[in-house]
Amino acid sequence: MIALIWAMDENRLIGKDNMLPWHYPKDLQYFKEHTFNQSVLMGDLTYQSLKTYYKTKPLPFKKSYVANINDATYPDAIHVKDLFDFLKTTKEDIYVIGGRTIYQLTLPYADRLYITYILGTHEGNVYFPPFDLSEFKWIEKRLEEKLIFSVYERKQP
Ligand SMILES: NC(=O)c1ccc[n+]([C@@H]2O[C@H](COP(=O)([O-])OP(=O)(O)OC[C@H]3O[C@@H](n4cnc5c(N)ncnc54)[C@H](OP(=O)(O)O)[C@@H]3O)[C@@H](O)[C@H]2O)c1
Repeated sequence: MIALIWAMDENRLIGKDNMLPWHYPKDLQYFKEHTFNQSVLMGDLTYQSLKTYYKTKPLPFKKSYVANINDATYPDAIHVKDLFDFLKTTKEDIYVIGGRTIYQLTLPYADRLYITYILGTHEGNVYFPPFDLSEFKWIEKRLEEKLIFSVYERKQP
């Protein structure tokens, strides 16, 4: 199972200078509930961004995979150089946790989407690419203040 999890505002904004453009504790809690002790996949830039929060503490995942076209080694993560081979062959449940590039490349492989819609607009410079939800069905929706926690599953053929 490959799941993407992200938060975006009404303009599809997801990032600001390699950080989140906002601070919504409820969304951070939701992210933690779904990814704690799971195997996650992220792009190199998202990994660098996370490491600013987890400077001294270990990353809170079972396994962290980091996609990077260049040769790289990570002290606490596994380098994924061939992203598509990884997506096609992995037998693990994987949560894709960003950023824009990696969401865009992995969306065709996603079985499930966890999207937090944030009402309103914010300042930033990284946007989720335009995408089509017609191949997914909405299975869960919960509104909490400015946040709509939504879950989609890919329709079976
Ligand atoms: N709102 C949210 O839920 C959320 C969540 C996570 C991140 N974000 C935001 O997203 C932004 C970062 O997104 P980003 O797109 O700039 O970076 P990113 O997706 O985190 O990382 C991009 C990396 O992917 C690598 N890559 C590209 N194609 C690849 C392939 N085919 N195989 C393997 N690796 C490949 C690139 O490697 P090379 O460097 O070698 O080209 C690059 O290092 C930040 O602003 C962050 O705050 C938001």
